[in-house]
This record gives sequence, C-alpha cells and structure tokens, in this order.
Amino acid sequence: MKYFLGIDVGALSTNAVILDVRREIVGYSIVQTGANSTEAAEETLEKALVMANIDRAKITSTVATGYGRISVPFAEKKVTEISCHALGAYYLYPDTGTVIDIGGQDSKVIRVGDGGKVLDFTMNDKCAAGTGRFLEVMAAKLRVSLDELGDLSLQASQEVQISSVCTVFAESEVVSLVAQNHPTEEIIRGLHRSIVNRIWSMVKMLGIRGAVTMSGGVAKNRGVVSLLEERLEQPIHVHTEPQIVGALGAALLALRLAQTAT
Ligand SMILES: Nc1ncnc2c1ncn2[C@@H]1O[C@H](COP(=O)(O)OP(=O)(O)OP(=O)(O)O)[C@@H](O)[C@H]1O
Ligand SMILES: [Mg+2]
Repeated sequence: MKYFLGIDVGALSTNAVILDVRREIVGYSIVQTGANSTEAAEETLEKALVMANIDRAKITSTVATGYGRISVPFAEKKVTEISCHALGAYYLYPDTGTVIDIGGQDSKVIRVGDGGKVLDFTMNDKCAAGTGRFLEVMAAKLRVSLDELGDLSLQASQEVQISSVCTVFAESEVVSLVAQNHPTEEIIRGLHRSIVNRIWSMVKMLGIRGAVTMSGGVAKNRGVVSLLEERLEQPIHVHTEPQIVGALGAALLALRLAQTAT
C-alpha cells in the first residue's frame, strides 16, 4: 500500500497528514513548531506514522506548505498555504466556497471554486491584530489558557469595547480594564469582537461565496466562531482538528503528484 504525506510548518504549529490511496486520512499529528522547523517537521511526521501504523519507507510522496515549508528537506514539492487550505477545506466540506484561516501569525480569507480551486484571496500578515498571536498575548495578560478563552467569552452577558486596533496598545488597554475590575469574560468577548471585526473587513473585500469553513487554531475558539457566525449570518464548518486543514491539502497534492508521475 502507498501513502501520501502533507506537512504544514506554521508559525506556531507544525502539522502532518497521511492519506492512503483511497484518500482516507490514516494518520495526523499536531506539534509545536518551536525554534527548529526541521526538527518539528521530523517530529510531526514520526507521530503521524505511529498513528497510521506504517513505516516511513511507505510514504510515496510528500508536499510541504506553511511559512516554514522550506525547512522540510524531504518534501518533493513546496506549495503555498492558500491552495492547501482551499483543497483541505473542500475535501472535508465539499460545499465550501469560502475559507477563513486564522493561524498564529497571519489570517487569510480564500474564495474557493469547484474542486477546491483558489478563485481569489486576501491576507493579513503585517499585523498581529486579527491573528491568533493577538489572543495569545491577551490570554497571557489575563492569566487564562487558550483553551478557556472560548467558553469564558460565551459566558459573558455583556462585552467591553476594545478601542485599540494595535496589539501593543490593546494589551495596555486590557491592563487598565483589569484594573477597573471589568469581568475577565467581558474583556475576552471584547477581544474576540475585535478579531471578528478585522476578519469581517477582509471578508467584505472578497464577498462570501457558498458555505464558510474555518481552518487554523483560532477555529478551536468557540467564542470567536460564534461571533463570526453572527456577523456572517451563516453557520461555519469547523473540523474537530482545524489545524490540520493545510497539511491535509498538502497531502492531497502529494497524492496528485504521485498519480501524475506514474
Ligand atoms: N486549544 C486552543 N484553543 C483556542 N485557541 C487555540 C488553541 N490552540 C491554538 N489556538 C489558537 O491558534 C493559534 C495558532 O493557530 P495555528 O496552529 O493554525 O497557527 P500556525 O498555522 O502555526 O500559524 P500561521 O498559519 O500563521 O503560520 C494560536 O495563536 C491560538 O490563538
Ligand atoms: Mg497555518
């Protein structure tokens, strides 16, 4: 049996997906990227191999994506994240017409056509506001874990307005809000609103097409997803492991690569 590997080396997480010839996911893994992207790629591959219960020699082709894709020496091909997220989301939810990927370092909105083809996209990679990094900084300031942010914000009956767009200024704003005894959950909801406003301005530029699928780690935050659903006025597809969508797209391309080679 032949297997196909996709690896996504992100700013925060490095993810692997292994597919079999029937395009079934047989293994995947999510690890922290840390300081050495090549080591992270090795580690995520090893973990995915264990889950798939196969030897590395069984991998027929590998495609790498993500900002650190250059650090995957064993990949036959390196592809941009945009096409991988589009393909991965389309595979999981074939009615996908729009993908919103919010990762650790950037956020993207992609218009997706038939077969998971990229029609258009827009990206914010200049500023931490509107990315997962913004939430990491604020969670640390509030001494709350990333896992807890979503549920806490859903508990809030009101929300505090965060007026600063910049992460650094928003951080000082959070410090004064805490000093004024604003409930943590109301501050968190305000922070989520601020992310949603940033994403909304990107979505407006492209327009929504079809069903919306969210990828990237911020999709694990139910608070952000629910505010975004309200704003878009439509439900959003979120896979149980939204961080593997890019690696999944890369694995689908690895399979395609092997098929065209034969
Ligand atoms: N368990 C969790 N609950 C809520 N949010 C989370 C969780 N884990 C990660 N995140 C959010 O996801 C972000 C990281 O997302 P992801 O792993 O997709 O980034 P990445 O792909 O490494 O980055 P990029 O695509 O920008 O290079 C973090 O900044 C954090 O805000
Ligand atoms: Mg990413």
